[in-house]
Amino acid sequence: STDLTGRHFLKELDFTADEFRGLLALAAELKAAKRAGTEQRRLTGRNVALIFEKTSTRTRCAFEVAAADQGASTTYLDPSGSQIGHKESVKDTARVLGRMFDAIEYRGDSQQAVEELAEHAGVPVYNGLTDDWHPTQMLADVLTMTEHSSAPLERIAFAYLGDARFNMGNSYLVTGALLGMDVRIVAPRSYWPADEVVARARELAAASGARITLTEDVAEGVAGADFVATDVWVSMGEPKEVWAERIQALRPYAVTLDVLRATGRPDVKFLHCLPAFHDLGTKVGQEIHEQYGLDSLEVTDEVFESAHSVVFDEAENRLHTIKAILVSTLA
Ligand code: CP
Ligand code: NVA
Repeated sequence: STDLTGRHFLKELDFTADEFRGLLALAAELKAAKRAGTEQRRLTGRNVALIFEKTSTRTRCAFEVAAADQGASTTYLDPSGSQIGHKESVKDTARVLGRMFDAIEYRGDSQQAVEELAEHAGVPVYNGLTDDWHPTQMLADVLTMTEHSSAPLERIAFAYLGDARFNMGNSYLVTGALLGMDVRIVAPRSYWPADEVVARARELAAASGARITLTEDVAEGVAGADFVATDVWVSMGEPKEVWAERIQALRPYAVTLDVLRATGRPDVKFLHCLPAFHDLGTKVGQEIHEQYGLDSLEVTDEVFESAHSVVFDEAENRLHTIKAILVSTLA
């Protein structure tokens, strides 16, 4: 079993490939137990603080439901409701919350903030998304891939299309590299992950046997891929002014049925961490439609609603994988 007692999860590379695989195995066990009604509560009496400096649906709910299922309680500190960063430093906040809670989740812009929290809290700290990494999302994505493929991870190929300079692109690249997968980043060169991230991924790949491809060419990038993934073109915290430039640069990288066909895999699956802009069902969607005449951005509604799409399995798996993190670091 996976004993990560007291460990932080600030970025994917806090864990070895074996530890990462252990978390996936535990998540699968916890998922099966919940379905069978045989889940054992291993976190009774524990308290977890959830700091969100940005909004969230999945990550927040996954932490709250995972904790409740395991008998732990949570306290949600909303994007404007706590003193953190405004009237109180991260360091002081860490020392206060560390006296009251058994663990702390943090979502915000700054990777430095979550690292500082971890340095001073004295309890496990989990990164619920920063500008640089989205590690809890990676556990859910890889679990979803294992559920929708009969091949071992070393024989799974996935392609990420879109803005790869940010949390999701970085995280996919290093996670694929860590686990020995065939990982392709498909984007305009100026949207590729930073050189240090690519260099780190290449080092990992040398040890794990992963294959790493960075390409501007969609057909080349997706050929043979078992999974095609994307993310929003404008992330939380970015100004509206970047819309025009993103749309211009990334339109050729939108996931359409033609892109899925170009994989050559009739059973290719589509992943998206969500939220997604695939129809006009949101205020932002309407605005984009009015300004740019588009009905979708990073993925068409046709793909999103197709049998290729496993995005709601992926969303559900946030619960089981986050529960695995709580259980392995706190039980
Ligand atoms: N995928 C994800 O992190 O979703 P939320 O922003 O809703 O938490
Ligand atoms: N890149 C997106 C991911 C959302 C889960 C963002 O940071 O907003």
